[in-house]
Amino acid sequence: MSPDFRHTPVIPGIIYLTINLLNSENMGLLEGKVAVITGAARGIGKAIALKYASEGADIAFTDLVINEAAEATVKELEAYGVKVKGYASNAADFEETHKVVSEILAEFGHIDILVNNAGITKDGLMMRMTEQQWDAVIAVNLKSAFNFIHACTPIMAKQRSGSIINMSSVVGVSGNAGQCNYSASKAGLIGLAKSIAKEMGPRGIRANCIAPGFIITDMTAALPEKVREEWEKQIPLRRGGTPEDVANVALFLASDLSSYVSGQVIHCCGAMNC
Ligand SMILES: NC(=O)c1ccc[n+]([C@@H]2O[C@H](COP(=O)([O-])OP(=O)(O)OC[C@H]3O[C@@H](n4cnc5c(N)ncnc54)[C@H](O)[C@@H]3O)[C@@H](O)[C@H]2O)c1
Repeated sequence: MSPDFRHTPVIPGIIYLTINLLNSENMGLLEGKVAVITGAARGIGKAIALKYASEGADIAFTDLVINEAAEATVKELEAYGVKVKGYASNAADFEETHKVVSEILAEFGHIDILVNNAGITKDGLMMRMTEQQWDAVIAVNLKSAFNFIHACTPIMAKQRSGSIINMSSVVGVSGNAGQCNYSASKAGLIGLAKSIAKEMGPRGIRANCIAPGFIITDMTAALPEKVREEWEKQIPLRRGGTPEDVANVALFLASDLSSYVSGQVIHCCGAMNC
């Protein structure tokens, strides 16, 4: 039985409180950490933010606009008793990204986790793809990650720690007909993460990718039902993934459970791509 210090003077009382604070049952995996997640008002980004908040992280998230839905996300996150702020910011814009990262640093004091999640699709066969479709997808999916890594790594290097997670895709590994712009952007995120892992590893920064398969979100809900059914048939686990499935991988990569994992791509696809 542990000694009861509750009625004894200050120092044993402090020891009692410290033991309780260190008790792993009370500690989340991300206690004391600050996470920046791009495009997290909804979908996979929101699920990651909720998972991180439930493990004790303070959350700074961005999205194109902080509208009613994004405010509702803020409220849901705050219910975990952590500090939360949503920032309206276009992740594809270099100057805007540097500005928002300085605001986050001023507000939260440090940045420990960066999830480059913001992404769009503008699908089409190569023969019909416009320059605008190509440029938009590369800017939002790939350049955004460069922007945030460029702004956050000096902060993480000073701290001598940080975990960066790029949201890639199975099609970034294997390609996909009708998605040459999207697949190229997602392949680029893998090259970016691997290079940062090598360049910034000596400064204590890790960088990894998640390659989700077919995940049921607003992005995939936009696909015709027939296309969705075809995708699901190809999945050995016979179901689309959930945003929470991806968030669990993101939790592993953000936390110290993965402290020796860097430069890797973890597929989260129900064995669709293996
Ligand atoms: N859903 C899937 O099946 C799937 C599979 C593999 C990879 N992914 C990737 O996961 C990420 C999240 O996907 P999702 O399904 O949750 O999509 P989603 O469309 O539901 O959410 C994406 C979020 O990013 C935001 N966003 C878009 N452009 C932005 C910009 N320029 N700046 C800031 N925010 C921006 C959107 O407003 C939205 O809130 C994306 O990178 C996507 O490519 C999704």
